[in-house]
Amino acid sequence: MQQLILPILLASFWTVCTGTGDWCYQSQFTCEHQCKVPDEWSHVNSNCGGKQQSPINIVTRKTLKDENLTPLQFTNYQQSFKGTIKNNGHSVQVGVSHLSTISGGDLPAVYKALQFHLHWGNNGGPGSEHTIDGEQYPMELHIVHMKQHYTDLTTALADPEGVAVLGFFYEKSNSANRKYEPIISALQSIKATNANTSLLPISMAQLIPSEKNLTSYYRYKGSLTTPGCTESVIWTVFETPIPLSMDQLKAFSDIKFHDGKPMVRTFRPVQPLNGRQVFRSGSAMTLASSALLGAAITMALGLSQHN
Ligand SMILES: *[C@@H]1O[C@H](CO)[C@@H](O)[C@H](O)[C@H]1NC(C)=O
Ligand SMILES: *[C@@H]1O[C@H](CO)[C@@H](O)[C@H](O)[C@H]1NC(C)=O
Ligand SMILES: [Zn+2]
Repeated sequence: MQQLILPILLASFWTVCTGTGDWCYQSQFTCEHQCKVPDEWSHVNSNCGGKQQSPINIVTRKTLKDENLTPLQFTNYQQSFKGTIKNNGHSVQVGVSHLSTISGGDLPAVYKALQFHLHWGNNGGPGSEHTIDGEQYPMELHIVHMKQHYTDLTTALADPEGVAVLGFFYEKSNSANRKYEPIISALQSIKATNANTSLLPISMAQLIPSEKNLTSYYRYKGSLTTPGCTESVIWTVFETPIPLSMDQLKAFSDIKFHDGKPMVRTFRPVQPLNGRQVFRSGSAMTLASSALLGAAITMALGLSQHN
């Protein structure tokens, strides 16, 4: 009798714990809260099982330098606006209503900004979606753009190059980043899912590194990192991270999922490259190459001294 009961018991647990319903991050999954974790997103939308998915791990020594990846042109990124920040149940998102665009850097068109949102870890722990040589940063900013002539994202997503997302990493710093105070202080007002609040005026330029620090980036063809996972995204992932203090990073873990649990570890795991090439801009990996140059000079000097 007992020999029979155990497998039945296990089988019923298995059924209870297999995700049904809405998609979620791995951190949200409990037997009580049934949801589809990233490994099951292909059952939410078959695109999520596609061959050009995001995020990816960028292996820098396998990237190919592309001289066409010149600095991007940012238009109206300096403009201050009074945005609304919203807890949408899986991130915090700010809509961009004024016309601000990116172009150049081998993008096939001019793209206008629609919204930006973030992906983060637990109390400042690993939380970025993209990783560089296996390193996961504490947070990642995505600024979502679509080709300027489209009027809605759905239409843009039907174009294989319709969407351009800029990705920025964050790094822990010893001092608070004052430019982020409007965002950080607003988080306390949007802890509950679907809550929103208005931001003090901010510009997108104040949230990202200065333009001279945006010349090093990676480029590849990928997808949205949440369902429907549409493969219509030209990704630009910048090398220079944005500094935030530990307290500022931790403030994001005060946000709650709809069930009241802390909204943490809101990232999709990295996806297979499936033969895709990742390109790097002319000046990506400048730190590594200048170190090599320095070593070469030192060696040459050392050799000449002995001659
Ligand atoms: C913000 O929340 C209010 C209700 O509190 C709602 O009426 C409004 O549409 C929301 N705005 C956005 C942008 O979600
Ligand atoms: C990039 O930013 C760092 C600080 O994060 C700064 O030390 C460095 O000088 C900047 N590099 C350039 C090329 O401006
Ligand atoms: Zn994102």
